[in-house]
Amino acid sequence: MSEAAIAYAQKNGQLFVEELKELLRIPSVSTAPEHAGDVRKAAEWAAEKLRAAGMENVRLIETASEKHRNGHPLVYADWLHAGADKPTVLCYAHYDVQPPDPLDEWKSPPFEPAERNGNLYARGAVDDKGQLMIHLKALESLMKADGKLPVNVRVILEGEEEVGGEGIATYVREHGDTLKADVALVSDSEMFAPELPTLCVGLRGMIYTEIEARGAAQDLHSGMYGGAAPNPFVALAQIIARLKREDGHIAIPGFYDGIEEPTKDELESWRALPFDEEEYRQHEVGSTSLTGEEMFSVLERTWSRPTMDVHGMPGGFIGAGAKTVIPAKAVAKISFRLVPGQKPMDIFEKYKKFVEEICPQGITIDVRMIHFGDPIVVSSDNEFIRAAKQAMAEVFRKDTVFIRSGGSIPIVGDFVRELGVPTVLMGFGLPDDNLHAPNEKFNLSNFHRGIESVVRFFAIVGA
Ligand code: BES
Ligand code: MN
Ligand code: MN
Repeated sequence: MSEAAIAYAQKNGQLFVEELKELLRIPSVSTAPEHAGDVRKAAEWAAEKLRAAGMENVRLIETASEKHRNGHPLVYADWLHAGADKPTVLCYAHYDVQPPDPLDEWKSPPFEPAERNGNLYARGAVDDKGQLMIHLKALESLMKADGKLPVNVRVILEGEEEVGGEGIATYVREHGDTLKADVALVSDSEMFAPELPTLCVGLRGMIYTEIEARGAAQDLHSGMYGGAAPNPFVALAQIIARLKREDGHIAIPGFYDGIEEPTKDELESWRALPFDEEEYRQHEVGSTSLTGEEMFSVLERTWSRPTMDVHGMPGGFIGAGAKTVIPAKAVAKISFRLVPGQKPMDIFEKYKKFVEEICPQGITIDVRMIHFGDPIVVSSDNEFIRAAKQAMAEVFRKDTVFIRSGGSIPIVGDFVRELGVPTVLMGFGLPDDNLHAPNEKFNLSNFHRGIESVVRFFAIVGA
């Protein structure tokens, strides 16, 4: 069982952490045009490490096109010499990260990785550079220790996951044949609790939109015109208030049509998970109370029910002090998380129609899609899931639990539908890792145990 590879990983564990820090120092923020060069640098860095690990056909695949401006490159690599009787594993991770703001909330700077209490702090530590390195170092450990891999492997890395993954989706649609595999291994999710090996079997989908509201032809003095001139912020507030009721119900007609409920068995298994709602409220959310649909449990509300959130409302005066202005224009960034049975385009059409209907007088609006992704539930019973379950259980010495996650990884739906490959979502994050937030971290013990789990997964699948 690849004891040599596991020994190699243990011996080189500290070096692996130092290498991960190199990657974390590259601010590959995919949504920020000024970081496009850094995003490419991260891609090239990963390609170089894949070559050093002994992977072949390593190359950057450009995704930018007439239709998809500013597309960031994919990184591809393979090693296909395990033999035709061995399965091919497609390893996926993303090397782009979310913006680091608000900067002053970080205890150490986001792109200067710092170790504290067995954790590595940096933007991207767990989402997803640390987990990308888990795949890379598992491959390197097997190659260096055994001179070969127990399975055929293709690696595809993405630099646009955090902005919707349009480039990889197009690539998979047009060149799916170059990614032929028997199973996809995705490490970009979390464990349900520390020390509890977890496989994720469901992700929510999403549509991320903007509503741009316009009132007056130009900014106006709010004393001279207030009372008569329409205010686009007030209009957006009124629209938003009508999208989601106080009880958490989304009021768009037809929004819940066709939703597929989790099975009784799945709900039953969620009830058996170690979850304390009060602890979650206090220590994860940190609010005075939780909100949402009361007739659904918190796990259902965040995993198998759709919802809506507002992320920011650019426009108007946001400087220190006061300015009495009626802005001519305001924007609201609004997303919906979707569940199986909901289709992003269909939901977008219903939402747009509803918003146009309820738009207050004197305001013109433009409702536009920024990005979208399908919800997905993967099979929780096939030979690859069983191998993953066994691999994690061997390392963590506990039974593996199955969960869903409320987050989205848009390409997973395409792997399943376009490539027809079962997907294993084996993640090593923890609930308090602060994904997308200040002081993101990765538990270093999970980093090392992740590498061992993936080595074992390859070995079991290739046995
Ligand atoms: N890794 C996350 C998604 C995730 C988080 C899955 C926790 C499972 C558990 C991913 O990087 C992410 O943040 N995705 C975005 C997708 C969006 C920008 C298209 C998300 O969910 O907001
Ligand atoms: Mn991620
Ligand atoms: Mn993310």
